[in-house]
Amino acid sequence: MTDALDTLARWRGSAHGCVLLDGFHTLKHAVRFGAEIPVAVTTDRRAALALADELAPDVRPRLDALLTEVPEAVYASLVARPHPTAVAALAVRPARAAQLERLARLPRTAPVVVLDDPRNLGNAGAVIRLAAGFGATGVVTTGTVDPWHPNVVRGGAGLHFATTVERLTVDELPPGPVFALDPEGDDLRGVKLPDDAVLAFGSERSGLSPALRARADHLLSLPMRPQVSSYNLATSVAMTLYHWSASGGAPA
Ligand SMILES: C[S@@+](CC[C@H](N)C(=O)[O-])C[C@H]1O[C@@H](n2cnc3c(N)ncnc32)[C@H](O)[C@@H]1O
Repeated sequence: MTDALDTLARWRGSAHGCVLLDGFHTLKHAVRFGAEIPVAVTTDRRAALALADELAPDVRPRLDALLTEVPEAVYASLVARPHPTAVAALAVRPARAAQLERLARLPRTAPVVVLDDPRNLGNAGAVIRLAAGFGATGVVTTGTVDPWHPNVVRGGAGLHFATTVERLTVDELPPGPVFALDPEGDDLRGVKLPDDAVLAFGSERSGLSPALRARADHLLSLPMRPQVSSYNLATSVAMTLYHWSASGGAPA
């Protein structure tokens, strides 16, 4: 019980400047991609480490050192919605200045994805997961959603730490030619996307904002049969990153 109380105090002391890692897979990716993790809890250490043995032996020693077992009531007091794996942790949120520096660095070997005022936290998380998988330079969001919100981190399975994620205004977008995706644009299939592209996608509700349209160098469309209005935001990002990678871009 002393351990649990110490852990609770450490959690409360670390919360400022940290993001919630909700669930085993989120913690696994955060550890794998070098996140700084001051505290991690589970209601069942044996089960969590067995999951590591089965699915992620590379991070098992680190999880063994990090995870403290706490009573269910303590765990439930730390998370909004208990996760089936009953694992939670805090990770230090990367400093904004360092993230901005990485996004602005040239030459760039992989695109930056821009989500223009995304509304759905799960969509934003899915896009961060895609960006991590394709080795994109990063994901920038405009608008009010915090791309490090716990539900975005959960949707991204902790892969924020495998790429660069920040919120900016349209005026602050990283350098590079802006290719904005819109059903009215030219067919993507006729275009080779450069590695320094800034790939912009509109809001689920209203599409691209006037400010983003004004900043765009090219408007591109995804192939889509007449009478279908649009694709889901995350699937649009997936198709576009796949198109970029199919012409030789990362990953290895
Ligand atoms: C769900 S859609 C937005 C639908 C919105 N009602 C509209 O008026 O555009 C979200 C974003 O996905 C991208 N998208 C969806 N379908 C697309 C398509 N066929 N061609 C190009 N981009 C598309 C666009 O960037 C779009 O802004």
